[in-house]
Amino acid sequence: MSNSPFISNCTADAIRDAALALKAGHLVAFPTETVYGLGADARNPDAIKRIYEVKGRPTDHPLIVHISSLNELDKWAIDIPEYAIKLARKFWPGPMTLILKRSEIAGDFITGGQDTVGLRVPSDPIAQALITEFEKISNSAIAAPSANRFGRVSPTSSADVQEELGDYLVSEDLILDGGISTIGIESTIIDCTASIPSILRSGFVTHEDLELFLCIEDNHSLSSTVTKYSGSFDKHYSPACKIKLDQAPEAGEGFFALSHFETPPNVIRLASPSNTKEFAKCLYSSLRLADNLGLSKVSIYQPPDIELGRAIRDRLRKASNAS
Ligand code: TXA
Ligand code: MG
Repeated sequence: MSNSPFISNCTADAIRDAALALKAGHLVAFPTETVYGLGADARNPDAIKRIYEVKGRPTDHPLIVHISSLNELDKWAIDIPEYAIKLARKFWPGPMTLILKRSEIAGDFITGGQDTVGLRVPSDPIAQALITEFEKISNSAIAAPSANRFGRVSPTSSADVQEELGDYLVSEDLILDGGISTIGIESTIIDCTASIPSILRSGFVTHEDLELFLCIEDNHSLSSTVTKYSGSFDKHYSPACKIKLDQAPEAGEGFFALSHFETPPNVIRLASPSNTKEFAKCLYSSLRLADNLGLSKVSIYQPPDIELGRAIRDRLRKASNAS
């Protein structure tokens, strides 16, 4: 384990120190409302190189650049369609990432060589404070993937980050603690490079939310073809245990389902969320718990395939595709 400092109760001084650490080229893991991110200066190629090393991620997988507000958008993106501005006004700060044509300052080392860049304004107060402070001292922004090893379950607490990356971080890097992520699954990613938007990754901002909003605003619709985004693999978000979907658990297996499902005898109930939002919030921590308990199989009853349930089912499908 590294001895990279773990900072709770993030005061203004702590945020300033973290921004300075980023400016010096170090990595800062920080909370967002979706999952924890592993941040670095989005204009520093050496710092970004370390993100890829620490995560064990192939370098052609682009990173999301986290900015403090809509005002920063045209620093990082060009040719921004009107519908993207409307989406940003409605859903930022929040769990939505927009893919836009990149500006000159979004380097190949961020975008994996593509001519687009992913941008997000998180709402978590620590993330907001850190990004705002960093922008002030650097004229840059924070590039951050989820703070897990490549292909693994995203972290939803600072302890998860330590468990995932502690062996790879060094003493100058920091982990900011902001409690448990309130949403628990990654942001909705929307491709805004065509005449109409399309969802590349489902998330807390749902297909239904987007369709309703775009229709009311613009008489616009979502693209019906769901593009496969770069970096999307069929196997992802994976714990070490094997996941069975919508099949009854057997004795000795882990079990995760909404609270109205009873626990069968001799299975280990990992959590009993009472609705789909709670399901999303405790999904990843339950998968981690299963691994920490050494369970070899977990049975999961999925929520219905609507609204946030779609995003959960997308993650579960990938998590269950164990090699
Ligand atoms: O909620 C989130 O989005 C979290 C928090 C930390 O913000 N971040 C996150 O980052 O999930 P990451 O790197 O684990 O997943 C982002 C996905 C990647 O699969 C990447 O390939 C895709 O977004 N992506 C980023 N930039 C892109 C681009 N320009 N074009 C297409 N896909 C892009
Ligand atoms: Mg990730």
